[in-house]
Amino acid sequence: MVPQTPHFDPAHVTTLDSVVHNKPHAALLVVEQSPALEGESLLLGAKNATLVIMLSLILTRGKSILRNVPANDDVIHIIQLLEKVGAIVFFDKDTNILEVDTSGLDGYEVELEIMKKTRASVLAMGPLLARFGKADIAFPGGDVIGARPIDYHIKNFEKMGVSITETGERITAHTEHVKSRNLLLEYPSVGATENLMMFATLIPGTTKIINAALEPEVFDLIAILKKMGARIDVSVPATITIIGVDALDSVDHTIIFDRLEAGALLVAGAITGGYVHLPQAPAHAMGMFLMKLQEMGHTILIHPSGMGVKIKATKSPRAVNIKTAPYPGFPTDLQAYTMAALTLAQGTSKIHETVYENRLIHARQLVEMGAQIEITHYDTAIIRGVEELYGTHVIASDIRASCALVLAGLAATGTTTIAGVHHWKRGYQGLEDKLRALGANISLQE
Ligand code: UD1
Repeated sequence: MVPQTPHFDPAHVTTLDSVVHNKPHAALLVVEQSPALEGESLLLGAKNATLVIMLSLILTRGKSILRNVPANDDVIHIIQLLEKVGAIVFFDKDTNILEVDTSGLDGYEVELEIMKKTRASVLAMGPLLARFGKADIAFPGGDVIGARPIDYHIKNFEKMGVSITETGERITAHTEHVKSRNLLLEYPSVGATENLMMFATLIPGTTKIINAALEPEVFDLIAILKKMGARIDVSVPATITIIGVDALDSVDHTIIFDRLEAGALLVAGAITGGYVHLPQAPAHAMGMFLMKLQEMGHTILIHPSGMGVKIKATKSPRAVNIKTAPYPGFPTDLQAYTMAALTLAQGTSKIHETVYENRLIHARQLVEMGAQIEITHYDTAIIRGVEELYGTHVIASDIRASCALVLAGLAATGTTTIAGVHHWKRGYQGLEDKLRALGANISLQE
């Protein structure tokens, strides 16, 4: 099934200035123009798989172990959430091993404060409903990249017999006459697929999620749920079938490597004209992105096993056109990094962002650095390649934009200072150290 574009509300306008002025942070990323990056780098687990997998442990009773867990701020926020509902959590940030004991869970409420810190908290709803028959959460709210409603989650929980009341910022839900159903998503939302799937694992009967999101992170969630004892099957066209079971067991699971961290390191190699080897990069999950790097003229070598990517960058990259889409399309989360690289490519590139209505906001910051980018309508960026970018002070609007500005800073003459460092810290653990080890001149000043 061809995914439709999600419904956009053109009235949703958030300016970058308002975001930054509301959240002043003194910390800065400081990036100097760097030589061609060279060397090998290791990856951590995917943030987007980790957050939902941590929340899936609410479905189990006992002590589970998660490995390869990145120690970024979003993970810390979800640890706080789990502790609030009664989990005992131990996180060793040096080994990236997280232990979560869910034997004594006793809460089904998620505070507004935690919901605002990370949108992924909304993914507690399905597991809490499955475990307690109740969930009391808050609206995660929109953010600068888009309104990000949760109507697909709500509508489909209701179809399955969940009664939902919205009062101000809170959503109170309880199960009434739960029933397994065929659920058709209007759009393959990653979060809605994950939330509904987790709920359905403990609901009697067969639930089908049709037009489901099939991102690699969704498959990692399926993998851990199956280890717990869930009965889940994936079939064409984009259908996830879940047969409810009575209980799920605690597990030991290693999170998949982060294709987005891999993407950042590959663009770092590309934009500096370097050579970067990522022996753990999940090439099989990065097809469209790697194809576009190749189209730009970079040499991409993929290990025959599908794990491991090397980039040998061309010194004269070419313009390419990109349209973001659900997996296996070009990931919206790699769009900002790629835009940074395209600012220095020969010719005119076009980026059409179809997943979020306001995710070209980093273009303005790249323009501050000398890029030539024009936004037509609200969803398309026309990028005319320039000879040089210049270091200046710029502001990061979200996790991926913070990294795009770092990447641009590696190639820009002089010094780039980047504010909005809390976004960087939400998304990455020590990425600045990995870049430095490859030869980048970057520091995080707190
Ligand atoms: C997840 C990822 C995020 C990534 C996105 C798309 C996590 C923690 N985050 O976010 O990094 O950018 O997938 O790959 O895994 N939508 C609705 N109503 C809904 C749900 C979604 O209109 O109920 C819209 C959203 O506003 C957006 C589009 O659908 O425009 C895609 O959203 P979705 O796939 O749900 O993204 P998230 O799960 O929030």
